[in-house]
Amino acid sequence: MARITAGVATSHVPAIGAAVDLGKTKEDYWAPLFKGYEFSKQWIAEEKPDVIFLVYNDHATAFDMKFIPTFAIGCAERFGIADEGWGSRPVPEVIGHADLAWHMSQSIIQDDFDLTLINEMDVDHGLTVPLTLMYGQPEAWPVRVIPFAVNVVLYPPPSGRRCYNLGKAIRRAVESFDEDLNVQIWGTGGMSHQLQGPRAGLINKQFDADFMDRLVMEPNELADMPHVEYMREAGSEGVELVMWLIMRGALDDKVNELHRFYHVPASNTAVGHLILENSK
Ligand code: DHB
Ligand code: FE
Repeated sequence: MARITAGVATSHVPAIGAAVDLGKTKEDYWAPLFKGYEFSKQWIAEEKPDVIFLVYNDHATAFDMKFIPTFAIGCAERFGIADEGWGSRPVPEVIGHADLAWHMSQSIIQDDFDLTLINEMDVDHGLTVPLTLMYGQPEAWPVRVIPFAVNVVLYPPPSGRRCYNLGKAIRRAVESFDEDLNVQIWGTGGMSHQLQGPRAGLINKQFDADFMDRLVMEPNELADMPHVEYMREAGSEGVELVMWLIMRGALDDKVNELHRFYHVPASNTAVGHLILENSK
């Protein structure tokens, strides 16, 4: 059967993708950030997951004000790279896993979570920057990816509790798929940041540290945090962190924290990164 072996959380700041694409990773500003992912790149090269269930948010590239699904699952065979205004990033196209995605859709929807089924979609920095951070610049991504888009851009976002419970439904869906697959789940976005309005540039290091501790140790309690608290304490875009709870919900109650990294600044955003393993 398919199994979720590990969870990865990481910020997805678009400027990180640009730094890699433009060969700036050794510059003083960027070097400390990329150092925090060296362990992760080595780890994933050894783990060789077959599929990543990649929880991210679209930033008004695939969806716009015409329609915005709260939760959308990518069931296509492949996904193009979005043009976010400067042309699309020079990264390989993303190869999906349609059989698993359709199976998971059935399982999760019959488990009472409403999903939007997506058969054609381009993916933006929310998905491609985490892949770049973990895999560098390969000719082709060495893993299949099921994109799972969450609306945290247009009010109202889903609650942390719903996200955490959805993670549990995701786990049931993976574990009822017959094929032997090593599946990882990634939660992306965050940490504290606000890109707009009078509080633009807000960073809250204490909130971020507490959030990582609680995500690892007491996720069920953390799931009760209301969305206004994310926005007040971590900034309007800090609410992206509810996506980390989807990842956490899909893991064991007790996990092994393999790696933790936190860094400010990267563009306007506090970068956080965790690798959590289920017991074998
Ligand atoms: C930035 C961060 C994000 O998460 C994002 O989606 C867009 C921009 C930033 O810090 O610039
Ligand atoms: Fe974002």
